[in-house]
Amino acid sequence: MSRVDGRLKVTGQAKYAADHDIDGVVHAVVVDSSVARGRITGIDTRAADALHGVLGVISHLDRPSLAYRDNPGPFPGRRLRVFQDDAVRFMGQPVAVVVATTLETAQHAADLVKVSYAAETPSTDLTRSPAVDGPAPFARPYTRGDAQEALGSADVRMDMTYRLSRNHHNPMETQATIARWDGGRLTVWDKTQHVLGTRNELAAVFGIPQENVRVLSPFVGGAFGNALRTWPHVTIAALAARELGRPVKLALTRRQMYFTVGYRPAYEYKLSLGSTRRGRLTAMTHEMKYETSRYEQFWEANQALGQMLYAVPNVSQHVQTVPLDVSTPMWMRGPGYGSAAFVIETAMDELAHELGIDPIELRLRNEPGEDPSTQQPFSTRRLRECFRVGARAFGWHRRDPRPRSTRDGDWLIGTGVATGCYDVFLGQAEAHARLDADGTAVVQSATHDTGTGTYTSMTQVAADALGLPMRQVTFRLGDSAMPPAPPQGASQTMATVGSAVQDTCDKLRQQAITLAVEDERSPLHGVDADDVVAGGGRLHVKGAPARGETYRRLLARNHRTHLEARGSWAPEENSRFSMYGYAAMFAEVAVDARLGLVRVRRMLGVYDAGRIISPKLAESQAVGGMVGGIGAALLEHTVTDHRDGRIVNANLADYLVPVNADIPDLKAVYLDGEDYKADPIGVKSLGELVQIGVAPALANAVFHATGRRVRNLPITAEALL
Ligand code: MOS
Repeated sequence: MSRVDGRLKVTGQAKYAADHDIDGVVHAVVVDSSVARGRITGIDTRAADALHGVLGVISHLDRPSLAYRDNPGPFPGRRLRVFQDDAVRFMGQPVAVVVATTLETAQHAADLVKVSYAAETPSTDLTRSPAVDGPAPFARPYTRGDAQEALGSADVRMDMTYRLSRNHHNPMETQATIARWDGGRLTVWDKTQHVLGTRNELAAVFGIPQENVRVLSPFVGGAFGNALRTWPHVTIAALAARELGRPVKLALTRRQMYFTVGYRPAYEYKLSLGSTRRGRLTAMTHEMKYETSRYEQFWEANQALGQMLYAVPNVSQHVQTVPLDVSTPMWMRGPGYGSAAFVIETAMDELAHELGIDPIELRLRNEPGEDPSTQQPFSTRRLRECFRVGARAFGWHRRDPRPRSTRDGDWLIGTGVATGCYDVFLGQAEAHARLDADGTAVVQSATHDTGTGTYTSMTQVAADALGLPMRQVTFRLGDSAMPPAPPQGASQTMATVGSAVQDTCDKLRQQAITLAVEDERSPLHGVDADDVVAGGGRLHVKGAPARGETYRRLLARNHRTHLEARGSWAPEENSRFSMYGYAAMFAEVAVDARLGLVRVRRMLGVYDAGRIISPKLAESQAVGGMVGGIGAALLEHTVTDHRDGRIVNANLADYLVPVNADIPDLKAVYLDGEDYKADPIGVKSLGELVQIGVAPALANAVFHATGRRVRNLPITAEALL
């Protein structure tokens, strides 16, 4: 199935947040701080105010009334409060907003606003600032066995320090919000991965009931996690609209995307491994430090892999954050898992090399029979099969294991593997479905489509459950007034919302079946409801397709304009299974021996992701994950000038992302199978999984090609010279 919204997207009819035409809309431009730490000592708006078309400038000097109290954020600490004081906490912090009748006027006026500061020297360098433990209760010291003792007595002990650079999400669509007040009701068109989260946040901050806020987000042009939170500009747009009594549109510039809407934090991660000579892991210790802001302690799921991926009897983990004069990080595709996987999976390759054991064989020797952190059985874990299928398809065993052993002219050739793994995160969702007399159905839920294909996959699930052709089913999403759904994050949408959509459409189909079997004029009259199935827009007796009738006839004869149903799904509490998706990632690189340039030659991902609803979309996700992983491994690096806290490559020309010329033949294979222990539609998680093992597979291939072990991301040419 191709995307049901594909035509809308490629013809420009899909409306992203800033595309909506709202009568009487005016334009807002944010003025950012030009220092990273200190206080605002003055804001001179005279030149801006004098400009024809400027409607107002709002800053903390106006003491805007916002109810930030009792509004906990996702992270421990205190969220940034828009225009509530004179403190500057990071470079690029919003310090004022200019509103004008045209965008150009607002931009010009924003340049004319003169802000003066009492600046202090900021600390923005992870390696030069003190770390603190936590944040509790999310980051927990973890121990099993006695890792120090086991390290001390191990046949082989390895101690490594890895450094991961800061990365930004860089979606194609920049963050934008349009806010309109109608009396005490607020409507917001926003780029968000969580319409209900945005609604709840705005209701809290503006002190109005949640039902008085409506958030609309029908299309999202990529997000990767940076739209999982309601950032200051959303509040600023709604504030400006309230203060000026006009609908306000506020779109961040590409540069502003680097300062205020999150990023994957930089890490310093020390890993020690203990092993027998035969490659049985005996100990692992993890000491991790990552950057956060001074006002919030960011956390992400960076501990799970170290606890459950391999059968290691002795493990310890210690997590610390380094509070800096920066904005708060945000979950970015495969958050926590991706960073930890780079470290663990590179370390496994280092151990394999040290022991002279094939890297796949080393992993197989440490496959656990059950989850070693919980002693729970796995719902499904087919990592062995991923490696077996992948090794054959990739031609793994043809490689000469010696580093720097293969050449192609000036190019050193290397191959590498890594494991990918991501939680099957499950939430709760509801949906509504209506079957109309014309035989079409509309199904809706307040979920999202950030480019992942939700419109399409939910249409498939609904059409399947209702027995309707896909073209007769419309799925709607992205509206907080719809039945509730969780954020589109942590790869939970297919399992969670998909199960709710199936439940809803099952109920609707059962209603129609009941109507038919109780209707004396129906050819299905008197048939046991359990013997009736739906297909091709008809209800018919199982195994006897001729005996039945269409939904249209059934509804028309009964004078029904429509049937409707509401359904839901929530995961079983305290499941007794350990649920994860798995991947085996394979990469081949060529490294120019003289210039250090790394070229990816091919990649293969083999995934155990449960049932695949939409193979075409799943392949697109996997290829996207590999491209993102290539970026993280070889190109992406947010560079901060630590003298003043400025990000120096805050644009898409200097922040390198992979382009088509960087991307070779990428192949994705999904193992056939379902996981009905996870959810009723048998899917596991997919969107994050596809990126987790990519960077270490590439790093390991670079080592194999060159004999140089680079423990820092990204792996740049200069590191290989
Ligand atoms: Mo993903 S980081 O949960 O959008």
